Amino acid sequence: MIGPRSVRLTGWGMYAPERVLSNADLEKLVDTSDEWIRSRTGIRERRMAAPHETTATMAAVAGKRAVAVAGLQPDDIDLILVATLTPDYWMPATAALVKEAIGNSRAAAFDVMAACSGFVYAYATADAYVRSGMYRHVLVAGSELLTRFLDFSDRNTCILFGDGAGAVVVSASDQEGGGAAGFELTTDPDGAYMVWLPSGGSRSPPSAETISRGEHYVRMEGKETYRYATKTLATSALTAIKRAGWDPDEVDLYIPHQANMRIIEAVAKGLNLPMDKMFVNLDRYGNTSAASVGIALAEAVDGGRVQVGDKVVLVAFGAGFTSGAVAIEWTADPILGRRADSVEPVASVRAPVNWDSVDPIPPRLRELLEADAGPHVPLEDVVPGEPPQGDGHRADAKREVPA
Ligand code: COA
Repeated sequence: MIGPRSVRLTGWGMYAPERVLSNADLEKLVDTSDEWIRSRTGIRERRMAAPHETTATMAAVAGKRAVAVAGLQPDDIDLILVATLTPDYWMPATAALVKEAIGNSRAAAFDVMAACSGFVYAYATADAYVRSGMYRHVLVAGSELLTRFLDFSDRNTCILFGDGAGAVVVSASDQEGGGAAGFELTTDPDGAYMVWLPSGGSRSPPSAETISRGEHYVRMEGKETYRYATKTLATSALTAIKRAGWDPDEVDLYIPHQANMRIIEAVAKGLNLPMDKMFVNLDRYGNTSAASVGIALAEAVDGGRVQVGDKVVLVAFGAGFTSGAVAIEWTADPILGRRADSVEPVASVRAPVNWDSVDPIPPRLRELLEADAGPHVPLEDVVPGEPPQGDGHRADAKREVPA
């Protein structure tokens, strides 16, 4: 196999569910306050998937958008990677469902599980496949439906996370240069039980008892995780930057995992960088785990924060503990992001035969939704709309989109 001249990021896209879960909503469920959440995390609101949505449907919408932006047809994709810790099922892989939903008939498809670092791990995997010459176009989607794995009576965790999906296409190029210039991936099992979900696996299969103990929900040691995050985000980014042969202050934009504003501020301080080099959108989405870097990347490019030739660093940390960074020289015209506008936010995922899921919404959230005083549209009837975009979105609105 002969590898390509370069491996480039050619498409990007995102999807966020319509329903906003505000801090005020959470005040109704746990002993917390908007003021506490905003000052300790920076989060104002997060999204919550509707009952008919799943990790696969969200990944498929973001994925179709990324494929359109890359100027490809679904069948041009050779491999589909879905990074998630909230798959539709334990098996099959969510990527298999996404393959059909995006209209692809020929790709290999599997999931990547590295928790919140999943997007960066999957990106590195995609790059390696393309660089080796084995595949030309790989779709990477990070997608999470965390609101179904949270204990909405635990104020330590339920305020942090939200739902959504981000995707990119990683492609072989016949042109020299550009694309990923340096990677770093690390795993530190000391953190294995700092962010974890105890039951459902082979160590503790699901049973009435595990459920009565609430072991099917995310657990977290916040302080330890915070300490690890600030350190590893900085060291992972620095290592990837060094491998690219760059200096930290040469980087035009850092796109960190969107977990906590204070973590991102600490990383900026540690690297001696101004905050305007850090892309932040966690105020609107919370922590969407493996989706967060993909969503942030799509919003950064569509919001005019990335130009051809820019040096961009994606960096993440997560359960495991895992951590990863990729230093990318940007090559795609940001205006191509407008091609995603033609992709409707709907996806059809194959349903099982002779089987129905129970109501997927956690009971406490269901009560909240039913008590909602706002204009009442049953969630099942909502056609999810376009997510609102950040400041400066479509900054180049007057330019023509190349065919
Ligand atoms: N609302 C109000 N009070 C809360 C609260 C909430 N949602 N959550 C915790 N508290 C309370 C605590 O019970 C504690 O009270 P006490 O002093 O009476 O015991 C107090 O606030 C301080 O808690 P502490 O844990 O010290 O807060 P913190 O400043 O460390 O912030 C996190 C907590 C979770 C926001 C922070 O530790 C964090 O972001 N950690 C990293 C988590 C993360 O990124 N996880 C994802 C990994 S990918």
